[in-house]
Amino acid sequence: MTTSPWSQQRYLSAWRFAAEAHLNQTLPASALPYLVHLASVAMEVMTACAVEKLDEPDLAIQCALLHDTIEDTVIDAVTLESRFGLAVTAGVKTLSKNPSLPKASAMQDSLERIRQQPREIWVVKLADRITNLGSPPAHWSTEKIEYYRQEAKDILSALGEASPFLAERLVQRIRDYPPPQS
Ligand code: NI
Repeated sequence: MTTSPWSQQRYLSAWRFAAEAHLNQTLPASALPYLVHLASVAMEVMTACAVEKLDEPDLAIQCALLHDTIEDTVIDAVTLESRFGLAVTAGVKTLSKNPSLPKASAMQDSLERIRQQPREIWVVKLADRITNLGSPPAHWSTEKIEYYRQEAKDILSALGEASPFLAERLVQRIRDYPPPQS
């Protein structure tokens, strides 16, 4: 019998948990639900899992679905750990910016902490930035867009080795950013 490379049940419980946690949140400057972002990040991660055979696809996929719960919702690490265990919680904590740091050093701090985590967590960060390099919100200045592109290059050089497949995809997104208005 063929077995699935990841657990459908674990996907569904993380998806459901994220849907409740992010209820009523939307994408920046959009009417679309925030879940659109999470589904896109999870899709990138699942594709990487299928292509590159990560050791722990469940860890990567659950962290993809839950990666913004601590940073952007009322969910705390204790709650997350009781539902999803230590490895997922450590991953999500690492993917959350330290709010007490200034913006410029928060990204560097986050990348250093991610590099101490399993490769699965690096893959989520790559997938997150690939997803976020779609059309920037209309109110962003040219400087802000350029800063965001530079940040993406920093993510690529810090974490790209975890997934040649996603690294290549991120290279393309950086090259084409910002994409032409659709
Ligand atoms: Ni995100």
